[in-house]
Amino acid sequence: MSQCIIQLTDLHLLSDVEAGVRDVPTWRTLKQVLDLLRQQEQQDYFLVITGDLAQDGERGAYERLMEWLQEWHGRCAVIPGNHDDRSLLHDVITLPTMSSENAPDSICFSHQLGDWRLIGLDTQVPGSVHGTLSERQQEWLQCELEQHAAQPTVLFTHHPAFSVASSWADGIGLTNGEVFWQSIGVHPQLRAVVSGHVHQEFSAMKNGVLCLTTPATSFQFTPGSTAAQIDLVCPGFRRLQLQDDRVDTDVIRLSELTFPPRMLPAG
Ligand SMILES: [Fe+2]
Ligand SMILES: [Fe+2]
Repeated sequence: MSQCIIQLTDLHLLSDVEAGVRDVPTWRTLKQVLDLLRQQEQQDYFLVITGDLAQDGERGAYERLMEWLQEWHGRCAVIPGNHDDRSLLHDVITLPTMSSENAPDSICFSHQLGDWRLIGLDTQVPGSVHGTLSERQQEWLQCELEQHAAQPTVLFTHHPAFSVASSWADGIGLTNGEVFWQSIGVHPQLRAVVSGHVHQEFSAMKNGVLCLTTPATSFQFTPGSTAAQIDLVCPGFRRLQLQDDRVDTDVIRLSELTFPPRMLPAG
């Protein structure tokens, strides 16, 4: 039976619901993306949010998001990004899918969806823009992959563990990407690694694994660039269809850029 996952990423929400990041009112763009999702998706799906839920780690942003997530309670999981406050996120975003294994040091999940295994990893390094997969998360990942060796698996991380062909974005990705690839190399059940953080759509194959990044629900950066540049393309989400042993995927965007971002350097 086919399974569907929807990925949202890089919401950058604020406590002040009218305020904006780079002039983008991120609650309003999230609402537009969720409205589009409700129009497009009539079938059952599992929702994964891959980090940067809040821009500045304010409690109010997480509390309001938790209210919004009630619609997906039991079929939603989140991992933190570099902008998130891990302990606040852990306190406020309480979902039955979250693993208590490493909490509150790491916020991660391992979830069975039909015949598939979905694993979300915490790559946050507090105070840093880049990410790292800690030894503890590496060990936990190994255990999960060994325990569920017969299940085709999709991994989620905030920081990409692969190059997105953009020198500035690659410089703020996962610093120990090679360790990650070595550790998963002995687990042939891995089908895809799906990430956020770079606010752009990307797709490539690495070591036989589909590597993906996804547009933010907030503002976008230009793909393939050597320096961070705002891209005037619409926010959106990613859909992953898991069928038999295969992942089919596409990105769905808003049709109109209602809130163009201000051109500021990345930070
Ligand atoms: Fe982000
Ligand atoms: Fe990020």
